[in-house]
Amino acid sequence: MLQPDDKSDVSVSLSAVLAQLPEGSASEAELAIGGEPASLIVTRVAGRVQAFRNICPHAGRRLDWAPGEFLIDQGQLVCAAHGASFDMASGLCVAGPCKGASLTAVALPGIAAAGTGS
Ligand code: FES
Repeated sequence: MLQPDDKSDVSVSLSAVLAQLPEGSASEAELAIGGEPASLIVTRVAGRVQAFRNICPHAGRRLDWAPGEFLIDQGQLVCAAHGASFDMASGLCVAGPCKGASLTAVALPGIAAAGTGS
């Protein structure tokens, strides 16, 4: 699991995203990983918040069809490029050209716990 560079910056950007992240949805947050800016997919499923790099394991494209706009079909996140479908909680590709591969999870210390409502 990847670790962000600066957790305080993560808290600020993710706090804004989480405030507007309904159950069963996905949104985008940006932060630095390894000294480089990175786009994240942030999901909330069954009250639990998860974050993944916004990089599809099929061909390395972003999953969103426009910045921060994700396709969700029957509870699965769908890559806008070639239609791979991902479990929004685990990041596992369950259908499409990269079936069995996974999105890269990013640790959100403190933020994930806050997003669970527990
Ligand atoms: S880049 Fe996502 S399915 Fe091809």
